[in-house]
Amino acid sequence: MITSYFPKYVALFAICVLCVGALDTFIAAVYEHAVILPNRTETPVSKEEALLLMNKNIDVLENAVKLAARQGAHIIVTPEDGIYGWVFTRETIYPYLEDIPDPEVNWIPCTDPQRFGYTPVQQRLSCLAKDNSIYVVANIGDKKPCNASDPQCPPDGRYQYNTDVVFDSEGRLVARYHKYNLFAPEIQFDFPKDSESVTFETPFGKFGIFTCFDIFSHTPAVVVVDEFQVDSVLYPVAWYNTLPLLSAVPFHSAWARAMRVNLLAANTHNTSMHMTGSGIYAPEAVKVYHYDMETESGQLMLSELKSRPRSEPTYPAAVDWSAYARSVKPFSSEQSNFPGMIYFDELTFIELKRNTGNYTVCQKDLCCHLTYKMSEKRTDEVYALGAFDGLHTVEGQYYLQICTLLKCQISDLRTCGEPVGSAFTKLEEFSLSGTFATRYVFPQIILSGSQLAPERYYEVLRDGRLRSRSRTPLPVLVLALYGRVFDKDPPRLGQGPRRLE
Ligand SMILES: *[C@@H]1O[C@H](CO)[C@@H](O)[C@H](O)[C@H]1NC(C)=O
Ligand SMILES: *[C@@H]1O[C@H](CO)[C@@H](O)[C@H](O)[C@H]1NC(C)=O
Ligand SMILES: *[C@@H]1O[C@H](CO)[C@@H](O)[C@H](O)[C@H]1NC(C)=O
Ligand SMILES: *[C@@H]1O[C@H](CO)[C@@H](O)[C@H](O)[C@H]1NC(C)=O
Repeated sequence: MITSYFPKYVALFAICVLCVGALDTFIAAVYEHAVILPNRTETPVSKEEALLLMNKNIDVLENAVKLAARQGAHIIVTPEDGIYGWVFTRETIYPYLEDIPDPEVNWIPCTDPQRFGYTPVQQRLSCLAKDNSIYVVANIGDKKPCNASDPQCPPDGRYQYNTDVVFDSEGRLVARYHKYNLFAPEIQFDFPKDSESVTFETPFGKFGIFTCFDIFSHTPAVVVVDEFQVDSVLYPVAWYNTLPLLSAVPFHSAWARAMRVNLLAANTHNTSMHMTGSGIYAPEAVKVYHYDMETESGQLMLSELKSRPRSEPTYPAAVDWSAYARSVKPFSSEQSNFPGMIYFDELTFIELKRNTGNYTVCQKDLCCHLTYKMSEKRTDEVYALGAFDGLHTVEGQYYLQICTLLKCQISDLRTCGEPVGSAFTKLEEFSLSGTFATRYVFPQIILSGSQLAPERYYEVLRDGRLRSRSRTPLPVLVLALYGRVFDKDPPRLGQGPRRLE
């Protein structure tokens, strides 16, 4: 009798663990951190000095973790390079690195600190998670010795990886992700040989993780969302804003909207480097964001998110980004096109000469349509509609299709595409669409002062139009549909440091 009851008992127990543990919503926290930088990075420091500096940063992060936990947060994300800064060579980053084991080893550094050698940073992060019962996400450096038996082993006998780690609320290492798409200046780190899609389950949904420049990628960024079907993405960044199209908050929130996933983005804070802009983004809305070019302080943000947005009735429908644009005839115009540069890419532009109108501008296979109405056509501000269809090749290689309406820097048309911070012209109505050859298009609206447009003022229709919803006039700096065409990418986005052989 006992044996026949036993399996039932086990099954019942398992079901109850799931129903008691599972949460419909959770509280997410991100911390924008003003990193305390090392005094010197051109020559190597001792391990002790490196640890002293890292502990100063962890002291600040510790306050944020405690504050977040006290407010009920289940998970907190801290930024890329948040523990030691960003300007290093291979040699000068070395004293900051620790050997980070594969999470499969099932390790709680806080309670078993000696198990994998000297790992004081992992121990401290693990204790922060355990003592405050909160998942902690941080970015640190991993080192892995190698030797001549591996032909790719660097001459100094080790691989060095830009690495995200996650400790669960018991302090256990549950995720380790080596940044796959390094950004060009990251000469201190190696590209991992293979891409890894790092995901893990929690009582509040399935998580994926990647870092900064990875957001431009198919692997791992699109893969964790579309193939691994995660609910939320953890996203440490050290992102410097470049208007018009690559500012952290508009770009990251557009990605979350288009990919229909929660995104927890934590940026470093350094105004002279234009590093600011963190937020918590849900598929249907920006929950909270922070952008501050005035002070040098860090900032904690919290917001409640759905644990499994895919199974919610409010989950947004997929967008067919070219449906509308392919169904209409191009608008004709007697005006001539002119070229303009955005972040080393040459767009084809057309000037908006009147306060209302319809325009089409094309480049290669992409045509962008705009219908708009301004409150008035100011003589001191010039707006242009631009199209780009091509391979971007500076600081990484990736294929783009972009439709954008933007304010030119001054009334000279040669400044269209250059960064500009404020606008007085107000748009009452707009509708922007393009004949995109991709399912991955990120819609952005940036207002004067680099502010996001509140969602009630616009909508993304299922036929791919980015359209005004109310007649409230908005001081628009940039409207953009930023498309990524992954089939036309080279194998890797990043251009690594070339090693002489
Ligand atoms: C950096 O230099 C300052 C001033 O000399 C000193 O107070 C500080 O401890 C140094 N920081 C580190 C991490 O060595
Ligand atoms: C170095 O190579 C030997 C075989 O030649 C191997 O047994 C050893 O594990 C290697 N060490 C490392 C750190 O890869
Ligand atoms: C910001 O970063 C720059 C470049 O790394 C550095 O020189 C500067 O000291 C940093 N500012 C602050 C406030 O840390
Ligand atoms: C723009 O096109 C729409 C139809 O698509 C038309 O109703 C409207 O009058 C046009 N506006 C201008 C200013 O040409």
